[in-house]
Amino acid sequence: MEYQHVLVERDGPVGLVTLNRPRVLNALSPALVAELSDALRGFDDDAEIGAVVLTGGPRVFAAGADIGDMADRSPVEQLQRDQTGRWAAIAAFSKPLIAAVNGYALGGGCELALMCDLIIAGDTARFGQPEINLGIIPGAGGTQRWPRTVGKYVAMEVTLGGAPLTAQRAHQLGLVNKVVPAEVTIGVARQVAAQLAEKAPVAVRLAKEAVNRALETPLSEGLAAERRSFYFLFATEDQKEGMRAFLEKRRAQFKGR
Ligand code: COA
Repeated sequence: MEYQHVLVERDGPVGLVTLNRPRVLNALSPALVAELSDALRGFDDDAEIGAVVLTGGPRVFAAGADIGDMADRSPVEQLQRDQTGRWAAIAAFSKPLIAAVNGYALGGGCELALMCDLIIAGDTARFGQPEINLGIIPGAGGTQRWPRTVGKYVAMEVTLGGAPLTAQRAHQLGLVNKVVPAEVTIGVARQVAAQLAEKAPVAVRLAKEAVNRALETPLSEGLAAERRSFYFLFATEDQKEGMRAFLEKRRAQFKGR
């Protein structure tokens, strides 16, 4: 697939996807989302890649869904396009996905960041769901992921009020892992990705799956699934290597097997 709206690079075990529609502040058109999903699928299938950084521009991560594209649509057209349903491929990415956010992450742009596993924010970052100002509500997970991340009251403030939160406030609320000077956001995210890419890949995959499951299942089911994954990992060579390396006081060499 030839990409027009995203840039895709790789640096050893770290993949980097940059949203690249600067003229419309990285508005998330269906074409962009399809390219992003395809790029992530490629990294998912690539055994050499251990983690991926997703970033946007220096002033805007992404300004949400493409308002020009949506303005005159009927509900049936919206249903047939199922624009936000297609985002499931992004949430289904099995490796660590780290958002490096500078500037505005609004609407779908914010929901995209919330689909990532970690968020590194530049000090200029702003996170918000302004859909209410357009007479709609978030449609790519905002009303569900905000309360699961920061609780009901902040979620209400953000979705009913429409005003964005600063990077610092998002950090205090636990939405953001680190706030850094904007000029080093991508570099820091790459370092974090490189560190995660050194871990045992099967364990990383199952850990991500288990944490995500916690947001979807009752505790007893989540605990049972966690235990099954925990026991399963004793079938991997990486578990043997990890424990042997610890006992031999050396660095483990994980192979993803
Ligand atoms: N969809 C389509 N086009 C968009 C867009 C979006 N979500 N967000 C910005 N743009 C376009 C603007 O229309 C403008 O186009 P123009 O140059 O042809 O006039 C261009 O991007 C620059 O935006 P502008 O508003 O002039 O930049 P700004 O720096 O003053 O403000 C934002 C930046 C992000 C605060 C502002 O653009 C904004 O609020 N965007 C909409 C965010 C939103 O509501 N998202 C939810 C969508 S469901």
